Amino acid sequence: MRRKIIAGNWKMNLTLDEGQKLTSEIVNMYKDENVKDVIAVLNPPFPHIFPVKKLIGDIKGIAIGAQNCSDKEFGAFTGEVSAKILASFGVEYVIIGHSERREYFKETNEFLGKKVVAALAQGLTPIFCCGESLDIRNAGTHEANVKYQLTESLFGLSAGDMARVVIAYEPIWAIGTGKTATSDQAQEMHLALRRHIASKFGKELAGDISILYGGSMNAANAADLLSKPDVDGGLIGGASLKSRDFLDIIKSY
Ligand code: PGA
Repeated sequence: MRRKIIAGNWKMNLTLDEGQKLTSEIVNMYKDENVKDVIAVLNPPFPHIFPVKKLIGDIKGIAIGAQNCSDKEFGAFTGEVSAKILASFGVEYVIIGHSERREYFKETNEFLGKKVVAALAQGLTPIFCCGESLDIRNAGTHEANVKYQLTESLFGLSAGDMARVVIAYEPIWAIGTGKTATSDQAQEMHLALRRHIASKFGKELAGDISILYGGSMNAANAADLLSKPDVDGGLIGGASLKSRDFLDIIKSY
């Protein structure tokens, strides 16, 4: 089902105390300010998952996610965390294929496809990231590039599994740079991706997929980006580390 989702990606930031403080503030604001119809997903580093989940409690509308998972279920893979382990901690979402994973950890489309399958098998919702570099944008091949990422990683899924995936379009040149895509650029790409999904899985299924925008989204530009018909939410890095900013983004829907 197409949902409005604002996901915060804490990346490798915040100590235990800082993470708990941020979570408590977000939880209190979410309740006090009577947020409706928007799912907030907190994606902290792995060790935060247990305490953050406890602080969220049973509040409907706030969910916990992870920033990565293994493509394997269990075993001798030192340093890895599987979707099965995450699910056992009550994790509901997992970011897969963030451009930082693709760039620094050399994660390929094929490998990311396996992670998506592993996440879905445990009942997690993958937030599958895609997006082009500045060079590709300047060469004018950005649409083809991003469609290819989806084709390679997701088009082997059954329709039932594909319907459970959330997409996050994150142009690499906009991540952490303060240089946001314009709302027209975001809409253009989101529509192209929806049509691409429709070409494989049909229009109805494509219309049900949530496609989030990510890349320097903040309290000042969120309303414009979120006003576009094919932008179903945001994946927020820097601004998700400040409770007031994160809530203002949620409330700009
Ligand atoms: P940013 O990060 O909001 O700090 O640009 C977004 C992301 O990397 O998901």
